[in-house]
Formats: sequence, C-alpha cells, structure tokens
Amino acid sequence: MQIIKKEDLKTRIYQLEKVTEFLHLNLITFDKKFNALLEGNNKILKYVLKYIIRSKGKKMRPMFVFLSAQIAGGINESTYRTASMIELLHTATLVHDDVVDDALQRRSFFSINAIWKNKIAVLVGDYLLAKGLLLSIDNEDFELLKITSNAVKEMSEGELLQIEKARKLDITEAIYFEIIRSKTASLLASACAAGAFSAQQDKATSERFRQFGEKVGIAFQIKDDLLDYGHQQTGKPSGGDIKEKKMTLPLIYTLQQAPDDIKKQIIYIVKNENTNKVKVDRVMAWVKEYGGLDYAAQMMEQYKNEALALLLTFPASEARNAMEELVNFTISRSK
Ligand code: IPE
Ligand code: IPE
Ligand code: MG
Ligand code: MG
Repeated sequence: MQIIKKEDLKTRIYQLEKVTEFLHLNLITFDKKFNALLEGNNKILKYVLKYIIRSKGKKMRPMFVFLSAQIAGGINESTYRTASMIELLHTATLVHDDVVDDALQRRSFFSINAIWKNKIAVLVGDYLLAKGLLLSIDNEDFELLKITSNAVKEMSEGELLQIEKARKLDITEAIYFEIIRSKTASLLASACAAGAFSAQQDKATSERFRQFGEKVGIAFQIKDDLLDYGHQQTGKPSGGDIKEKKMTLPLIYTLQQAPDDIKKQIIYIVKNENTNKVKVDRVMAWVKEYGGLDYAAQMMEQYKNEALALLLTFPASEARNAMEELVNFTISRSK
C-alpha cells in the first residue's frame, strides 16, 4: 500500500489548506499521471522534460479542473485527462512565453531558453502541445479538444496583441483587459468549463463554469502584473514588464492620472530607457505615487468578487468551499 503524506501537499501551498485537504488523493494521482506523460524518446527531450518535472509550478489549473468537476457532479477518469491536458498546454505556453519575453528565470529555476536556447525551447513547447492534443484524441475527448483548442488560439491572439501594443505604446485600459482575457483568462475559463464537462455533459453548466473561470483568470493576471511591481521573491524576474515595454494596468492608470510632464517622461523611459534600472525604478515609484497599484488591486478585487458571486449560484458543498479558497488564493498569492 502506498503511504500518502498529506503534509507534503500542505506545505506545497500552505494557504490552500481546504483545497489540499479536499483534493489530496486526486492531486497525488494527478502528479503521477502527469509526470508519466512527460517522457520523451529523444536524448535532449528526456533531459528537458526531467527538468520541467523538477521545476514544477503551483498546479493551480488542475485544482480548478478537479473542483469544477466535483461541484458539477463528481471527479472521474476523464477529469484526470482534462487536468493533464490543461497543465500540458499551460506548460507549453510558459516555455514559449519565456522565449517571447526573453525571460531567463521561471519557477525559481533558469528558464528552458536560458539553458538550452530558443530553438530547443520552441520545439519542446510544440512537443508538449502535441502531447496534449494526442491525449484527448486518443481518448476521443472531442469536447475537451474543442474547448482547449479555442483557448490556445485565444492565447496566441492575446500574446500577439500585446506585442503590437508594446511596439506602439498605445495601449488603453480596454485593450489591456482584452489582452489578459485572451492570453490568461481563456485557459482558466477552459479549465473550469472542461472540468465541469468531464463530470456532466451539460453545455449550459459548462458555460457557467467558463464564465466563472474567465473572471478568476482576469483577477489572476492582474495579480501577476502587480507582482511584477513588487519586491517579493516570485521565482520570476520583477520589473520585467517595463523592460519588455509591456504596459500593464498599474502603469496604464498612472498615465491617465499623472500630469503631462510626468506622463511624457514615463513614455520616454519605457520607449528608450527601459533597460536602465534607475529609470525603471523611477517609473515604478510614480506608479505607486499616482495610485496605479491601488487601482489595479481594486479592479482585481472586483473581478474576484464577481467570480465568487457566480460560484455561490452553485449549491453549497465542501468542494465549493475549497473553490472559494482557491479563488481567494489567486489574488493573495505571493508567487
Ligand atoms: C503563470 O501562471 C503564467 C500566467 C498566466 C501569469 P502560474 O503562476 O500559474 O504558473 P506556475 O505554473 O505556477 O509556474
Ligand atoms: C503569461 O504571460 C503567460 C501566458 C499567458 C502565455 P506573462 O508573460 O505576463 O506571464 P509571466 O509573468 O511570464 O508568467
Ligand atoms: Mg512572460
Ligand atoms: Mg508574456
């Protein structure tokens, strides 16, 4: 008999006591199934996949899949495939994202591109994506395939729109929300919709979960953008967004509030001195001074509350309580 150490999971994310308590067996089984998918025949691939397993993330999306399934009717074997599929896609997009963003750090480790360079990172990302597609095709999970393919399409569109705006520096608040809805919230929305669908093949229920997941996903990315302005150890480089000319909500709001001369200086720095740490720190100080951080935090809170209101339309249960905790963690997390 296998000995399950609950403590292992609890210490993984100590703020998620209810979630890990409720899902501990599912998450242990999930880890095994997911790791088994990350096996390659090629020598380089083997090394890289091993490295990915070691530098594992928070696995929040599988938690959303499992809890959505549980609330919608009950976790079953296809829920595990759904969770694996979503986490594979997530992993693939992170590997590609670090190439796109020139980021050398991920999950407190070197990024794949930092060690093996862009060519290998691009190909490994493609490999993970294909593994996800095959997993659902082999099991004839066509609805899952539809839901997730749509998310992948939207994620690419979101990343491309973000690049377009970083080049022109003409981003508005509305476009910011469109970017984060597509690049981040679409996958979380799919995790919830597909998780629910795995338990109950009812499209209307699945759609309610999609809407819930989209709101959580928007709050999730605002938090990620706020963390980029912080000094905590997130396992990713901070200040990276300005360096990449990525103007996120705190900065967009600051540009609306600051007097014209400051506004001009900010735009100049983002455009021409975005790799100068002293100048970038100055921009970050203005963002704080003009209320950009507070405003973003307020918007994040608003989306979180809308998500919780939707969640409360489902009948009370232990799984729903755990989901509530997971939503709160989305915006209180420190990495
Ligand atoms: C990071 O997501 C990518 C974003 C959408 C901001 P996570 O913070 O969930 O990443 P890991 O999997 O825990 O590293
Ligand atoms: C999140 O984008 C990754 C995707 C949605 C593909 P970011 O570039 O903002 O996220 P991090 O901060 O690198 O994780
Ligand atoms: Mg990035
Ligand atoms: Mg990016």
